[in-house]
Amino acid sequence: MQPGGALPVAPSAIIVAGDHMDAQGNAVPFETPRALETEEIGVLVSDFIQAARNSRRAGFDGVEIHGANGYLLDQFLHDGSNQRTDEYSGSIENRSRLLLEVVDAVAAAIGADRVGVRLSPWSGILDKKDSAGLALWDHVTSELGARNLAYLHLIEPHSDFTDDEKPLDMEAPDVASLFKKAFGGPIISAGGFVPETSAAAVASGKADAAAFGRAFIANSDFPEHIRKGAPLNKHNRATFYGGGAEGYTDYPSLVAAQAA
Ligand SMILES: Cc1cc2nc3c(=O)[nH]c(=O)nc-3n(C[C@H](O)[C@H](O)[C@H](O)COP(=O)(O)O)c2cc1C
Repeated sequence: MQPGGALPVAPSAIIVAGDHMDAQGNAVPFETPRALETEEIGVLVSDFIQAARNSRRAGFDGVEIHGANGYLLDQFLHDGSNQRTDEYSGSIENRSRLLLEVVDAVAAAIGADRVGVRLSPWSGILDKKDSAGLALWDHVTSELGARNLAYLHLIEPHSDFTDDEKPLDMEAPDVASLFKKAFGGPIISAGGFVPETSAAAVASGKADAAAFGRAFIANSDFPEHIRKGAPLNKHNRATFYGGGAEGYTDYPSLVAAQAA
């Protein structure tokens, strides 16, 4: 997937178990990534700044920095994936350093009030493992809280978006409640919501807004559906990754039906 067929980069050269989709939509095994050199980290931070500036130029109100779901910044947070020996590894402070450097650099470039961050505490996706647990997330959420960001977007570990049949795990930590105080600003909560449960989460005060994944894929005018209480299209998992218009632009749209 990288330009010129280069290996993906990671904190450490550790392979993830299982498969991912290639550009043709075929399941292929993960490759062992290449560990980023310490000297390359400044370039990476500049890339985030450039991407944020590009987003503003393209007309977006702000950017969400992806520190969730086993993506690069999340890999640095976890000692399962981060086994480096430089100042970006070891202690919780060191493992959080890259995320915070990126957040600070992007906030300086476009304004902290235009920057949100997404995290997925206790999600086991892509072999995410960490020995610190609560202490890690306490540190990260309070450090982010000190930065007056637009919001913190937390994915609840009770839900698994890769398995529609799995019931919500009510024993899992409720991360919106756990970290609202440490962060102190607006919280967006995601994971397994339906309109009614999202409204309840906001009414309870633990979250300020809710985000949806699967429902939005199948209902491009999802807010309109909620407003009208209209029945939702069910998503088709078989068309989630790759392919053409089917499952991408051909779900029935309430707005288009009304216009017709
Ligand atoms: C097809 C599909 C692709 C997704 N891709 C990503 C992704 O690239 N990055 C990410 O952070 N989350 C991704 N997600 C997770 C969603 O952002 C969201 O957190 C998740 O679906 C839970 O919300 P839901 O229960 O409303 O679906 C994806 C979800 C689906 C269904």
